[in-house]
Amino acid sequence: QGPVITIDGPSGAGKGTVSQLVADKLGWHILDSGALYRLLALAVTHHGMSFEDAETLKVLAEHLDIQFEQTPEGKIDIILEGETVTQALRTEEVGNFASKLAAIPEVREGLLVRQRAFSQMPGLVADGRDMGTVVFPAAQVKVFLTASAEERAQRRFQQLQQKGDTVDLEELVATIKERDERDANRPVAPLVPAAGALVIDSTDLTIEGVVDEIMSEIVK
Ligand code: CDP
Repeated sequence: QGPVITIDGPSGAGKGTVSQLVADKLGWHILDSGALYRLLALAVTHHGMSFEDAETLKVLAEHLDIQFEQTPEGKIDIILEGETVTQALRTEEVGNFASKLAAIPEVREGLLVRQRAFSQMPGLVADGRDMGTVVFPAAQVKVFLTASAEERAQRRFQQLQQKGDTVDLEELVATIKERDERDANRPVAPLVPAAGALVIDSTDLTIEGVVDEIMSEIVK
Protein backbone atom coordinates (compact mmCIF):
# COMPACT_ATOMS: atom_id res chain seq x y z
CA GLN A 1 0.00 0.00 0.00
CA GLY A 2 1.19 3.46 -0.91
CA PRO A 3 0.25 6.95 0.28
CA VAL A 4 -3.16 8.29 -0.76
CA ILE A 5 -4.53 11.76 -1.55
CA THR A 6 -8.31 11.97 -1.73
CA ILE A 7 -10.08 14.57 -3.84
CA ASP A 8 -13.83 14.64 -3.24
CA GLY A 9 -16.48 17.05 -4.37
CA PRO A 10 -19.61 17.58 -6.44
CA SER A 11 -20.12 17.12 -10.15
CA GLY A 12 -18.13 19.49 -12.36
CA ALA A 13 -15.86 20.91 -9.64
CA GLY A 14 -12.82 19.98 -11.73
CA LYS A 15 -11.75 16.90 -9.75
CA GLY A 16 -10.91 14.86 -12.83
CA THR A 17 -8.52 17.41 -14.36
CA VAL A 18 -7.00 18.34 -11.01
CA SER A 19 -6.50 14.69 -9.98
CA GLN A 20 -4.78 13.93 -13.28
CA LEU A 21 -2.39 16.89 -12.93
CA VAL A 22 -1.55 16.09 -9.31
CA ALA A 23 -0.99 12.41 -10.19
CA ASP A 24 1.26 13.42 -13.10
CA LYS A 25 3.34 15.73 -10.88
CA LEU A 26 3.83 13.01 -8.27
CA GLY A 27 4.08 10.08 -10.69
CA TRP A 28 1.26 8.35 -8.80
CA HIS A 29 -1.71 6.24 -9.92
CA ILE A 30 -5.20 7.59 -10.22
CA LEU A 31 -8.55 6.18 -9.17
CA ASP A 32 -11.54 7.69 -10.97
CA SER A 33 -14.17 6.14 -8.70
CA GLY A 34 -17.00 7.85 -10.61
CA ALA A 35 -15.97 5.76 -13.62
CA LEU A 36 -16.65 2.59 -11.60
CA TYR A 37 -20.19 3.79 -10.83
CA ARG A 38 -20.61 4.70 -14.49
CA LEU A 39 -19.29 1.28 -15.58
CA LEU A 40 -21.76 -0.41 -13.30
CA ALA A 41 -24.55 1.73 -14.79
CA LEU A 42 -23.55 0.59 -18.29
CA ALA A 43 -23.35 -3.05 -17.25
CA VAL A 44 -26.79 -2.90 -15.60
CA THR A 45 -28.21 -1.41 -18.81
CA HIS A 46 -26.48 -4.00 -21.03
CA HIS A 47 -27.80 -6.86 -18.94
CA GLY A 48 -31.27 -5.35 -18.69
CA MET A 49 -31.09 -5.86 -14.94
CA SER A 50 -33.67 -4.74 -12.44
CA PHE A 51 -32.83 -1.71 -10.40
CA GLU A 52 -34.73 -3.16 -7.46
CA ASP A 53 -32.60 -6.22 -6.81
CA ALA A 54 -29.88 -4.72 -4.60
CA GLU A 55 -28.15 -8.02 -3.78
CA THR A 56 -27.70 -8.88 -7.45
CA LEU A 57 -26.39 -5.37 -8.11
CA LYS A 58 -23.85 -5.91 -5.35
CA VAL A 59 -22.65 -9.16 -6.91
CA LEU A 60 -22.34 -7.47 -10.30
CA ALA A 61 -20.37 -4.60 -8.71
CA GLU A 62 -17.98 -7.04 -7.01
CA HIS A 63 -17.35 -8.99 -10.21
CA LEU A 64 -17.56 -6.26 -12.83
CA ASP A 65 -15.24 -7.28 -15.68
CA ILE A 66 -13.14 -4.15 -16.29
CA GLN A 67 -9.81 -3.66 -17.99
CA PHE A 68 -7.68 -0.59 -18.51
CA GLU A 69 -5.60 -0.53 -21.67
CA GLN A 70 -2.90 1.89 -22.69
CA THR A 71 -3.60 3.29 -26.18
CA PRO A 72 -0.76 4.04 -28.65
CA GLU A 73 -1.39 7.76 -27.92
CA GLY A 74 -0.63 7.16 -24.27
CA LYS A 75 -4.26 7.45 -23.14
CA ILE A 76 -6.22 4.88 -21.20
CA ASP A 77 -9.03 2.91 -22.80
CA ILE A 78 -11.65 1.40 -20.51
CA ILE A 79 -12.93 -2.03 -21.49
CA LEU A 80 -16.14 -3.41 -19.98
CA GLU A 81 -16.89 -7.08 -20.62
CA GLY A 82 -14.62 -7.00 -23.67
CA GLU A 83 -16.10 -3.84 -25.15
CA THR A 84 -14.36 -0.43 -25.30
CA VAL A 85 -16.62 2.02 -23.46
CA THR A 86 -14.26 4.97 -22.87
CA GLN A 87 -16.55 7.39 -24.73
CA ALA A 88 -19.88 5.76 -23.88
CA LEU A 89 -19.13 6.20 -20.16
CA ARG A 90 -19.03 9.99 -20.35
CA THR A 91 -22.61 10.82 -21.35
CA GLU A 92 -24.94 12.73 -19.00
CA GLU A 93 -27.40 9.87 -19.24
CA VAL A 94 -24.89 7.36 -17.85
CA GLY A 95 -23.83 9.88 -15.17
CA ASN A 96 -27.39 10.32 -13.99
CA PHE A 97 -28.02 6.60 -13.89
CA ALA A 98 -24.73 6.10 -12.02
CA SER A 99 -25.83 8.64 -9.43
CA LYS A 100 -29.07 6.73 -8.85
CA LEU A 101 -27.18 3.44 -8.44
CA ALA A 102 -24.75 5.18 -6.09
CA ALA A 103 -27.57 5.79 -3.62
CA ILE A 104 -27.98 2.02 -3.08
CA PRO A 105 -25.94 0.84 -0.05
CA GLU A 106 -25.28 -2.64 -1.53
CA VAL A 107 -23.82 -1.07 -4.66
CA ARG A 108 -21.41 1.05 -2.60
CA GLU A 109 -20.40 -2.02 -0.58
CA GLY A 110 -19.83 -4.02 -3.74
CA LEU A 111 -17.46 -1.39 -5.12
CA LEU A 112 -15.60 -0.77 -1.85
CA VAL A 113 -13.05 -3.59 -2.06
CA ARG A 114 -12.41 -2.86 -5.72
CA GLN A 115 -11.64 0.77 -4.95
CA ARG A 116 -9.27 -0.06 -2.08
CA ALA A 117 -7.36 -2.40 -4.38
CA PHE A 118 -6.13 0.67 -6.31
CA SER A 119 -3.96 1.83 -3.45
CA GLN A 120 -0.45 0.61 -4.33
CA MET A 121 3.04 1.99 -4.55
CA PRO A 122 4.17 4.63 -5.36
CA GLY A 123 0.90 6.34 -4.40
CA LEU A 124 -2.69 7.07 -5.36
CA VAL A 125 -4.79 10.12 -6.13
CA ALA A 126 -8.39 9.03 -5.49
CA ASP A 127 -11.14 11.12 -7.08
CA GLY A 128 -14.76 10.80 -6.00
CA ARG A 129 -17.44 11.64 -3.46
CA ASP A 130 -16.49 9.52 -0.45
CA MET A 131 -12.79 8.83 -0.96
CA GLY A 132 -11.80 10.67 2.23
CA THR A 133 -14.86 9.79 4.31
CA VAL A 134 -15.34 6.07 3.54
CA VAL A 135 -12.91 4.44 1.11
CA PHE A 136 -9.56 5.85 2.33
CA PRO A 137 -10.26 7.37 5.77
CA ALA A 138 -6.54 7.15 6.64
CA ALA A 139 -5.42 9.17 3.59
CA GLN A 140 -2.46 11.50 4.22
CA VAL A 141 -4.04 14.47 2.46
CA LYS A 142 -7.77 15.03 1.92
CA VAL A 143 -9.20 17.68 -0.37
CA PHE A 144 -12.80 18.79 -0.85
CA LEU A 145 -13.08 20.61 -4.15
CA THR A 146 -16.19 22.58 -4.95
CA ALA A 147 -17.51 25.53 -7.00
CA SER A 148 -20.87 27.23 -7.46
CA ALA A 149 -23.53 25.17 -9.30
CA GLU A 150 -23.63 27.75 -12.12
CA GLU A 151 -19.86 27.62 -12.62
CA ARG A 152 -19.87 23.82 -12.58
CA ALA A 153 -22.70 23.68 -15.12
CA GLN A 154 -20.81 26.14 -17.32
CA ARG A 155 -17.67 23.95 -17.24
CA ARG A 156 -19.64 20.80 -17.99
CA PHE A 157 -21.39 22.66 -20.82
CA GLN A 158 -18.05 23.50 -22.44
CA GLN A 159 -16.79 19.94 -21.99
CA LEU A 160 -19.87 18.46 -23.66
CA GLN A 161 -19.79 21.03 -26.47
CA GLN A 162 -16.18 20.16 -27.23
CA LYS A 163 -17.28 16.54 -27.60
CA GLY A 164 -19.95 17.69 -30.07
CA ASP A 165 -22.88 16.95 -27.70
CA THR A 166 -25.71 19.48 -27.82
CA VAL A 167 -26.97 20.38 -24.37
CA ASP A 168 -29.00 23.17 -22.85
CA LEU A 169 -27.17 25.20 -20.19
CA GLU A 170 -30.30 25.88 -18.11
CA GLU A 171 -31.07 22.19 -18.13
CA LEU A 172 -27.52 21.39 -17.03
CA VAL A 173 -27.77 23.78 -14.07
CA ALA A 174 -31.00 22.04 -13.07
CA THR A 175 -29.57 18.50 -13.36
CA ILE A 176 -26.39 19.49 -11.51
CA LYS A 177 -28.47 20.87 -8.63
CA GLU A 178 -30.65 17.77 -8.68
CA ARG A 179 -27.59 15.51 -8.57
CA ASP A 180 -26.02 17.60 -5.77
CA GLU A 181 -29.21 17.20 -3.80
CA ARG A 182 -29.28 13.43 -4.31
CA ASP A 183 -25.54 12.99 -3.53
CA ALA A 184 -25.76 15.16 -0.38
CA ASN A 185 -28.92 13.60 1.04
CA ARG A 186 -28.50 9.91 0.37
CA PRO A 187 -28.47 7.70 3.45
CA VAL A 188 -25.06 6.17 2.68
CA ALA A 189 -21.83 8.09 2.12
CA PRO A 190 -23.49 11.49 1.62
CA LEU A 191 -21.25 14.05 -0.05
CA VAL A 192 -19.66 16.03 2.79
CA PRO A 193 -16.06 17.14 3.36
CA ALA A 194 -14.03 14.54 5.30
CA ALA A 195 -12.80 15.53 8.75
CA GLY A 196 -9.64 17.55 8.32
CA ALA A 197 -10.17 18.06 4.59
CA LEU A 198 -8.71 21.10 2.88
CA VAL A 199 -11.79 22.77 1.34
CA ILE A 200 -11.08 24.55 -1.94
CA ASP A 201 -13.73 26.62 -3.70
CA SER A 202 -12.58 26.74 -7.31
CA THR A 203 -15.28 29.12 -8.60
CA ASP A 204 -12.73 31.92 -9.11
CA LEU A 205 -9.56 29.83 -9.33
CA THR A 206 -7.72 28.49 -12.35
CA ILE A 207 -6.89 24.79 -12.57
CA GLU A 208 -3.22 25.64 -11.91
CA GLY A 209 -4.26 27.63 -8.84
CA VAL A 210 -6.09 24.62 -7.42
CA VAL A 211 -3.22 22.24 -8.23
CA ASP A 212 -0.70 24.57 -6.54
CA GLU A 213 -2.82 24.74 -3.42
CA ILE A 214 -3.01 20.94 -3.23
CA MET A 215 0.70 20.47 -3.93
CA SER A 216 1.63 22.88 -1.15
CA GLU A 217 -0.50 20.80 1.24
CA ILE A 218 1.41 17.67 0.20
CA VAL A 219 4.89 19.04 0.76
CA LYS A 220 3.96 20.45 4.18
O1 CDP B 1 -18.47 14.29 -12.24
P1 CDP B 1 -19.77 13.60 -12.44
O2 CDP B 1 -20.69 13.80 -11.31
O3 CDP B 1 -20.42 13.92 -13.72
O4 CDP B 1 -19.57 12.07 -12.54
P2 CDP B 1 -18.67 11.02 -11.80
O5 CDP B 1 -17.69 11.62 -10.89
O6 CDP B 1 -18.18 10.17 -12.91
O7 CDP B 1 -19.72 10.19 -10.89
C1 CDP B 1 -20.97 9.75 -11.36
C2 CDP B 1 -21.90 9.55 -10.16
O8 CDP B 1 -21.43 8.48 -9.34
C3 CDP B 1 -21.98 10.75 -9.21
O9 CDP B 1 -23.05 11.62 -9.52
C4 CDP B 1 -22.18 10.14 -7.83
O10 CDP B 1 -23.54 10.03 -7.52
C5 CDP B 1 -21.60 8.74 -7.97
N1 CDP B 1 -20.34 8.58 -7.24
C6 CDP B 1 -20.38 8.27 -5.90
O11 CDP B 1 -21.44 8.18 -5.32
N2 CDP B 1 -19.23 8.04 -5.21
C7 CDP B 1 -18.05 8.16 -5.81
N3 CDP B 1 -16.94 7.93 -5.11
C8 CDP B 1 -17.97 8.53 -7.17
C9 CDP B 1 -19.14 8.74 -7.87
